[in-house]
Formats: sequence, structure tokens, C-alpha cells
Amino acid sequence: MNSNQAPRRVENVQTDRGSLPVYATGTVEQPWDSYSESDHDVWRQLYQRQREILPGRASDAFLRAQDTMGMTPDRIPRFSDLNRVLADATGWQIVGVEGLLPELVFFDHLANRRFPVSWWIRRPDQIDYIEEPDLFHDLFGHVPLLMDPMFADYLVAYGKGGVKAHGIGPEALMQLARLYWYTVEFGLIRQPDGLRIYGAGIVSSKGESIHSLESAAPNRIGFDLERVMRTRYRIDSYQQTYFVIDSYEELIEATLPDFTPIYERLLEQEAIPAGSVLESDNVFQRGSGEGWSVDGDV
Ligand code: PHE
Ligand code: FE
Repeated sequence: MNSNQAPRRVENVQTDRGSLPVYATGTVEQPWDSYSESDHDVWRQLYQRQREILPGRASDAFLRAQDTMGMTPDRIPRFSDLNRVLADATGWQIVGVEGLLPELVFFDHLANRRFPVSWWIRRPDQIDYIEEPDLFHDLFGHVPLLMDPMFADYLVAYGKGGVKAHGIGPEALMQLARLYWYTVEFGLIRQPDGLRIYGAGIVSSKGESIHSLESAAPNRIGFDLERVMRTRYRIDSYQQTYFVIDSYEELIEATLPDFTPIYERLLEQEAIPAGSVLESDNVFQRGSGEGWSVDGDV
């Protein structure tokens, strides 16, 4: 899409902020003027709370990117302001959405360097936990790393891989979803000065930011592509296992090959429970398993 041209508006969607136009790609204009003082306050509180605990915990690339993007605690950022910075850095754009998108639509956005961001922010009583991705998770958690050239390319490749997997079958899609979960959402990276967070699901949660790095409960295991693609995960609690990459280059290199034979091979292999440790794992920490519930893996 030519970015100088306004996207084609196809219909309107009713929200609690009135009727918003929906464009052909399923995206909406960010209704920035409709944010209340309470909305900006939720952003400010969450932003400040995370930035207090993230130095020394979040990856250098994440913190650096968030600063250069010009996100601040003062106000919910305007997508259009962030998009100018992103366009120059890596060509990515953020687009507003009402909520989760159908898989293929989501993949197509990523493949075209568009990252869908929920336009609405959680309520004050949802500060600590919300089930669906809201603006804070998407913007604070995901968008900074779109400034990093390596990570930006990884996400494009992921989107293209998703379009392909969609044509292969549900098993391939599930294996790819696990890769997203254990990298983009819940990934850890090894820096010379120690383990750091880069996953958006962690970095946007105070509890999991501390748990993922400091708790004795979870496993921390070196990243291995096929191992990750076989591993089930939790959506209702902190992760039982985190996978650690050495660099974003490692991620790109590991995911560069055609996955078609991998999908085929994995069809023959059983899924691995979220909390299991295998003989072949490169274990940084074997979790104590404290507080784990017995079932509930996705
Ligand atoms: N190389 C993968 C494929 O052929 C695509 C991909 C890249 C998937 C990066 C995930 C992440 O399907
Ligand atoms: Fe997310």
C-alpha cells in the first residue's frame, strides 16, 4: 500500500466510543481525542511502573528503542507520531485494530510491515492483568523492538511464514504459534551482563518481568527451533519454561530455512508439556516447578 494514500474505508464499526471507520485491511483510525483522562492515567501508571523495574531486566535493544521512539509516560502516544519514527528506522507502521484478528489477516499485516495495535486501553481495575491484548501490551510491549533492524526483519519473515503455514494446515499453524509465543511474546535473551527480557508478554507485565528472570519456579532453556515448536504453553499463568536466545541474529538464522520439511517431521513427534525438561536441552535453570498446576497447557 502506498503510505501517502489514505487507506480505503469500507465500513464502520460500533464501539463504546462511537462509530469508527474500518479500512479494507481491517484496521481502524486511532480515536486519540476520545481517550479520557482516566485512559491517559492508566497509560502513565503502567508506563512508569514498568520503566522503574525494566532497567537491568529488559534487553538493551528494547530500552534503547523505547527511548528513541519518543514514547513517554505523559500521554497515550499518537500512532501517527510513532509511525514517522518507525518509517525512518525500519519501514514498519502500526495500525489500529479493535481486537484480535483472524490468523491470515494478522500474518498478512506482519508480512507487509504493519503491526496491529489495539486502540483501546484497559480499565484502572485491570492494571495488573487483562486477558486480551490492549494498547498498553501492544504499544509498550511490542512496538519498541520494531525499531531494531534484526527483530523487524524477523517479524516480517514470521508473517510470510504464517501465510505459508496457513496453506499447509492446522498443525503447522500451531507449531508456528508456539514459536511466536516463546519468542515474540515470552522470549529471553542472553546479554554479556546476564539474561534479559525481550518478549512483549513479559515486558508489559510487572509480575512476569520479575518472575521470568528471578523466580526459581520456571525452566530457562537455550533456544532450539524444533524443541520450541513442539512445546505447549500456558495462557492462564506465568510460563513454566522460557527459551533463551543469544542474539536476534540467532533467531533469524534459525528461522531462515524453509519450514516445510520441519512441519512434516514434527507431525511424527509428540508435543512436549510446557514444564518438561529434556535430556537434550541446554538448561540454564531447571525450574523447581513451585506453584504449577498439573494441567492447562494449550
Ligand atoms: N522460514 C520459515 C518458513 O519457511 C518462515 C519463518 C521465518 C517462520 C521466521 C517463522 C519465523 O516457513
Ligand atoms: Fe502480544
